[in-house]
Amino acid sequence: MQTRTKRFTNLKAANEQLQKFAKVVNSDHAIRKLHKNESLRVGIDLGTSSIVLTVLDHDNQPLYGAFEYDHAVRDGIVVNYMESVQILKRLKQKAEKVLGIELTTACGAIPPGTGESSAKIVSNVIEAAEFVCRNVVDEPTAAAQFLHLETGTVVDIGGGTTGISVFKNGKLTEVVDEPTGGFHMTLVLAGNQHIKSDEAELLKRDPKKEQNIFPIIRPVVEKMATITKTATSKTIEQPVVVVGGAINFKDFIPTFSKTLGMPVHKPSFPQFVTPLGIGMYDHE
Ligand SMILES: Nc1ncnc2c1ncn2[C@@H]1O[C@H](COP(=O)(O)OP(=O)(O)OP(=O)(O)O)[C@@H](O)[C@H]1O
Ligand SMILES: [Mg+2]
Repeated sequence: MQTRTKRFTNLKAANEQLQKFAKVVNSDHAIRKLHKNESLRVGIDLGTSSIVLTVLDHDNQPLYGAFEYDHAVRDGIVVNYMESVQILKRLKQKAEKVLGIELTTACGAIPPGTGESSAKIVSNVIEAAEFVCRNVVDEPTAAAQFLHLETGTVVDIGGGTTGISVFKNGKLTEVVDEPTGGFHMTLVLAGNQHIKSDEAELLKRDPKKEQNIFPIIRPVVEKMATITKTATSKTIEQPVVVVGGAINFKDFIPTFSKTLGMPVHKPSFPQFVTPLGIGMYDHE
C-alpha cells in the first residue's frame, strides 16, 4: 500500500560518510592520503558543547576532523572569544599535522536568525585562528546540504536548543529555535539523582547506564517533539531528520516519533552532520 510517508534514501550515503569520518575524528590518521596540491574545504562549528573542525576534499568527501569540548559558545553565540580562538588554533594544528598540509581557508556557521553581528564574530574567530573565512552559512542549511535534503524538516538538538528548519525545494521556508537542548536533559538527571551537573553529564553519556537513565529524561525528549510539532506555523515537511549530539540514545527516535506522530530519521553520528555540511560551503 502506498503511504504518505516518504522514504529518505539519501540517508544511506550520508551514513557511510559519517561512519568513515567518526573513525578518524581526533585520531592520528586521515580517511585517505592526500594528492599533491589538493585543494581542501574546512568547516568550523562553534557549538555550545563543542568546537568541531572538519576537512573535506574538493568533491565534498570527508577526510579528517577534530573537536574539543568547550564552554566558549552559548546558544550559538561566542561568549569567550579568546578561548574559542585558542581551541580552534589547536584543532587546526592537529589537522595540519595529520594531513601534512597547511589549512588556509574555512567556512563557519551561525544559528539562523542570529544576524549579521554574530556572523561577524564567527568570521573574526576563524580569521584570528589564521584561516581565510570564505563563508558563514546558517547551521540547518549546512545540515540539509550534507543530507541532500531538498524538501523536509531538519531538527537539530544540540547542547542548548532545539532548532526546527523546514525546507521546500531547497529553500529554507521556516526556522524556529527553542531553548531546550541536551543540557536540559543533564539538569533533569542531576536533579533526579541529586548530583552535580558535570557528573550528570558523564552519566547521561554512559551507554551502559542508558536503560536506567532514559526513563528519567524521556519527558524532555517528549517536550522536544511537542516543540517540533507546535512551534512551526506551517505543516512539517517530511522526511523529518533529527541531528545533533543530544539524540544519542537508542530510545530517542521511537519516543520522539511517537509524540510527533510521524516517522523520524536519525543519521549515524548525528553530532557531525552540521559540521560536515559547513565544510561543503568553504568555496568561492
Ligand atoms: N553520547 C551521548 N549521549 C547523550 N548525549 C550526548 C552524547 N554526546 C553528546 N551528547 C549531548 O549532545 C549535546 C551537544 O550536541 P552538539 O554537539 O550537537 O551541540 P553543539 O553544536 O555544541 O550545541 P548547539 O548546537 O546547541 O550550539 C550536549 O548536550 C551533550 O551532552
Ligand atoms: Mg550545533
